[in-house]
Amino acid sequence: MDMLEQVKESQQWIESKLNGDKPQIGLILGSGLGVLAEEIQNATTIKYGEIPNFPQSTVAGHKGQLVVGELKGKTVIAMQGRFHYYEGYTMQQVTFPVRVMKALGVEKLLVTNAAGGINQSFNPGDLMLINDHINQMGDNPLIGKNDDELGPRFPDMSQPYDRELINLARETADSLNIQTQEGVYVGNTGPTYETASEVKMLRTLGGDAVGMSTVPEVIVANHAGLRVLGISCISNMAAGILDQPLTHDEVIETTEKVRDDFIQLVQAIVQKV
Ligand code: 6GU
Repeated sequence: MDMLEQVKESQQWIESKLNGDKPQIGLILGSGLGVLAEEIQNATTIKYGEIPNFPQSTVAGHKGQLVVGELKGKTVIAMQGRFHYYEGYTMQQVTFPVRVMKALGVEKLLVTNAAGGINQSFNPGDLMLINDHINQMGDNPLIGKNDDELGPRFPDMSQPYDRELINLARETADSLNIQTQEGVYVGNTGPTYETASEVKMLRTLGGDAVGMSTVPEVIVANHAGLRVLGISCISNMAAGILDQPLTHDEVIETTEKVRDDFIQLVQAIVQKV
């Protein structure tokens, strides 16, 4: 089965569980940010393992399910837990759910993640609106035969994060008195965090935050013609900035601290889009 057929099979299977609900907005919820899905009303929850052609999630702290329902008057489809390249999935597997969201009728995708701060004016707990990214993963989900029904061979990436959505997010955050940063997200493969020298290099290259996700999904979202908004939760400073080692526990701890601001902000954005 080629990818288009797989996408359609997954789409039809999911639609059969949704009694006519058409999701308009897709949400990809990163490490520690999956709690937002608990705000979704009249939710239909579907485990990734049940969905034909979906990969399975393996990391602790990442739930593996789709949650479809109402959020602030909009029908949303949320991924509670995503697939990471470092888990051993191919780029095509990591991004498959984005294809399925598009097939289900999603037009806007809100992608979130926990990331390390590279920009020295950032602090743990900051929320950063992503205004661009740098793909440092050494791979691309669009490598291989292109299916013109899914998108163009050579997609434009001059504005992968939608200007209007960034402006809306900034205004929404301001009106809620939530501070935001803006900057460039660097996607690394992980699973190692960076060395101090790598962080210095990434800063020189123009990065403001670094993480292990998002870039593949955003590439495919652009290929599919989705409008993307990206928000990073700066869970910790990247190596070499503070004199302390990085731990996954710190990442989870910080995202729990900003969880309320994050939930408020995303809900208000969803209401306004
Ligand atoms: Cl410092 N690096 C990477 N690659 N991912 C992260 C991170 C750092 N902090 C949270 N996620």
